[in-house]
Amino acid sequence: MKRRAIVAANWKMNGGLELVKTMTTGLNNLDLAENVDVIICPSAPYLSAFEHDKLGKSIHLGAQNVSEHQKGAFTGEISTTMLQELSVEFVIIGHSERRSIFAESSKQAALKVKAALAAGITPILCIGESESERVEEQTEAVLSAQLQPVIDEIGIEKFNEIVIAYEPVWAIGTGKTASPEMAQATHCFIRQFLAKANSEIANKVPLLYGGSVNAANCEKLFAQADIDGGLIGGASLKVDEFKIICSAAKGT
Ligand code: PGA
Repeated sequence: MKRRAIVAANWKMNGGLELVKTMTTGLNNLDLAENVDVIICPSAPYLSAFEHDKLGKSIHLGAQNVSEHQKGAFTGEISTTMLQELSVEFVIIGHSERRSIFAESSKQAALKVKAALAAGITPILCIGESESERVEEQTEAVLSAQLQPVIDEIGIEKFNEIVIAYEPVWAIGTGKTASPEMAQATHCFIRQFLAKANSEIANKVPLLYGGSVNAANCEKLFAQADIDGGLIGGASLKVDEFKIICSAAKGT
């Protein structure tokens, strides 16, 4: 099954105009394998400053969050229409920090996925278990419970238009990466779970790994059969390291 590889940069609440500038220069002559897309997700105020269209068709613009509501009295929120106006093509939804710090539920993530799809913006749906859930062997139950509301909300056919990022919460920003074998086994589970609803679509959906990916471990992670790239936090703020990670991604 041919799948594109994706490397997405999640800057979180970091970076500013200076990073936008150095990243734009750095990505200008990026050495990318065929079938690889790179997505930069800066904080919302910098979306329009990142001129991805000058960097070729493999470099895309993503947002870190979006509202499930269309418009109205939602102070501080950002709508899909606003993202559309800024030529945003992707949006991270259901990141574990949104789930844990901002109490977003899987149902809310499902509604955001639906809103993004309706606006023609590709959702990067994040799922992942906490350390205690892994220790208690609840990983598969947790991932299923995060995926099912999205399947229920949009239908499995729409998974043709989304990207999934598996990010074990215990590996995010901790330097503790899942081993390539452990990550592969969980990605394989995710694909099998989706295959119960539609095996063709399960085979096509890009599955990214996230959680302390860096220049030293990316190659082995990306070489796994069911890992189609990564969602990169800390290492995406360092232009040279991020470029190494992008160059390690290979589409099939
Ligand atoms: P990290 O973050 O690479 O810093 O672990 C990944 C993420 O939260 O998307």
